[in-house]
Amino acid sequence: MASWIDTSAVEPGPAGQRAATQGPKVGRSAGASQIGPLPASYGLAPSPTLTPRRLVTAKPACGTIGDFSPYAAHGTGPMTEPAEDLLGTTLAFARRALADPHWDHLRMALPEGPPARRDVLPRPLPVMAWLDGIEDQAAPDTRDLCAVLCRAAPHLAWGQTYGAADFSAGFLERYGWTELLGQRGPFVSDTIACGFLLLGPGIEYPRHRHEAEEAYLVLAGTADWLKADRGFVPRPPGALVHTPSQCWHAIRTSDQALLAFYLWSAGDLTQKSEVRPAG
Ligand SMILES: [Fe+2]
Repeated sequence: MASWIDTSAVEPGPAGQRAATQGPKVGRSAGASQIGPLPASYGLAPSPTLTPRRLVTAKPACGTIGDFSPYAAHGTGPMTEPAEDLLGTTLAFARRALADPHWDHLRMALPEGPPARRDVLPRPLPVMAWLDGIEDQAAPDTRDLCAVLCRAAPHLAWGQTYGAADFSAGFLERYGWTELLGQRGPFVSDTIACGFLLLGPGIEYPRHRHEAEEAYLVLAGTADWLKADRGFVPRPPGALVHTPSQCWHAIRTSDQALLAFYLWSAGDLTQKSEVRPAG
């Protein structure tokens, strides 16, 4: 797979203009009533449409955050295997995607050897319902990682940076992320944070910024991405979206959910982003 190119300098095209006119925006001022129906698997209840791998149930926590025991010292029981598979697949994928010398500083920040392991309490979120069928929106180069993530998803801690004081309930039902490697995830790093962002269709993650430099690798779903004042640009699976430190950026989904790998480097790796008020 060739190294991915950041095409964020491209001006907004017809698809971006189209997306601006359709689909509800879900932010501070929008309510859940504007959102279309959730998939049958909403709430993580078993559904006839679920494949067997989606029926894996999250198991109780096997420890607490703060356990910095060496990765190799942990067993490979049913709780840890999916996360370990995900780590290996993710790191190999990220190295290929960041192979261009322009991204040396990000690629070289990835761990060379097995990182220390941290036991994290699995935590589901409603947004996980949108993992059902997400592989259908992937590219050939991203489909395998999507599949591995779906298998590991019930064993991961899914979180939200924001709460009811920040955004509407409708947004929070369709937003979540899980850190794989960093200061909170199941694998330890103090120099980078990386994991997966999942957004349901029909929402807008408003302009926000943070100290860390950020690279997104789009895995599934075509959403519109905004950086600085360049306007929204559609970015398909296979795109790399790079955002410098403290640069305003936003994401808007239309009729597809979005799954993206994110990597934060330098700066405060657990910062709550600053959100720009609408208007
Ligand atoms: Fe960001």
